[in-house]
Amino acid sequence: MAPALVDYTAAEKELYEFDDLKIGVKGLVDAGVTHIPRFFIHPPECRANHSSTPQNNGADGVEIPVIDLEGFNKNDDRRVKMVNAMRYACATWGFFQIVNHGVPVAVMEEMVESIRRFHEQPQEAKMEWYSRDFSRKVNYYSSGDIKGRAKPVPAEWKDTLSCRAADDQWDFDALPELCRHEMKEYMKNMIDLQEKLSELMSEALGLSKDHLSSTGYLKSIKLSGHYYPACPEPDLTLGTIKHSDPSLLTLVLQDKSNGLQVLHNDQWVDVPLVDGAFVANIGDFMQLLSNDKFKSVEHRVLATPLGRPRISAVSFFLPSAKERIKPCGPIKELLSDNTPPVYRITSYEEFMNHYRVVGQIGGRALPHFKL
Ligand code: OGA
Ligand code: NI
Repeated sequence: MAPALVDYTAAEKELYEFDDLKIGVKGLVDAGVTHIPRFFIHPPECRANHSSTPQNNGADGVEIPVIDLEGFNKNDDRRVKMVNAMRYACATWGFFQIVNHGVPVAVMEEMVESIRRFHEQPQEAKMEWYSRDFSRKVNYYSSGDIKGRAKPVPAEWKDTLSCRAADDQWDFDALPELCRHEMKEYMKNMIDLQEKLSELMSEALGLSKDHLSSTGYLKSIKLSGHYYPACPEPDLTLGTIKHSDPSLLTLVLQDKSNGLQVLHNDQWVDVPLVDGAFVANIGDFMQLLSNDKFKSVEHRVLATPLGRPRISAVSFFLPSAKERIKPCGPIKELLSDNTPPVYRITSYEEFMNHYRVVGQIGGRALPHFKL
């Protein structure tokens, strides 16, 4: 039996030693560990089988909305329904699935396979990408952003390949060759889908359809290819801790493994695997801009039990470099004498500085910006 309480100060040193090895969680699994190192052990109240009874999606009216984009370009009542569904999903769940989105199945499957290829290549080849210097265009790292957050331990049972554009310009040549072509195709499709969703979200807020895209707040994209290796003790750790995303909009492509859960009315709800769908969620900065009309909801990923690894491709949409430092607050058109701003003027940069301190260790960053 693993101890219920871990001496996290001592464990921190071990985590850094593990990080220096650059082998990732997958390296531990390949080495045949049967007990997870203690720096991966989470407090009992944060683990999978603790606290609120998990709610099955679909039970008792608990159902993550599914939005069908069929007929997106036709100005008929399907479009009206879509906008209404979007308003409901963003205001109540902060999460929804999207079907008939127009992204080819082959692009989605090849993206997942290329993330798998990267993480399953020989260790020596992969190590050269291992870095926590996030000024680089591409990083491969393990266990989340342990050096960026206030408390590095407990760590997360996952490895990540992430890439970002310094601005809106992608340097595709900087990507690992094993997934370059796939990521490029995928990214193009994600930008198209983001533009569609931005129109629907703008209309759902009662704004003109190009409002959100004209702000430049969703112009940059960061792509994370997570690989959650099968864990010998999944009940003691987590793949991704409880968090809300700081950015504006997130699009998640999950492979055929469960594990993603959303906190809805204080209960964890499994996000079901819907064939060919994307999971979308609202981020903190969208909640701020929408003056709380849209909700950024907490979610987590359980550690993957023995069997196949879980793979996800996560696209975060965030402000371009220019917009990042610009002062901004709740969208003016949403305010009136009866609807005063909930948040003060800030910038994405300032918001992120605060998020890094509290948001990456399970806390919420938004309350700090409330008036
Ligand atoms: C994230 C996230 C979910 C997943 O990267 O912020 O919530 O399924 N990922 O990997
Ligand atoms: Ni997230």
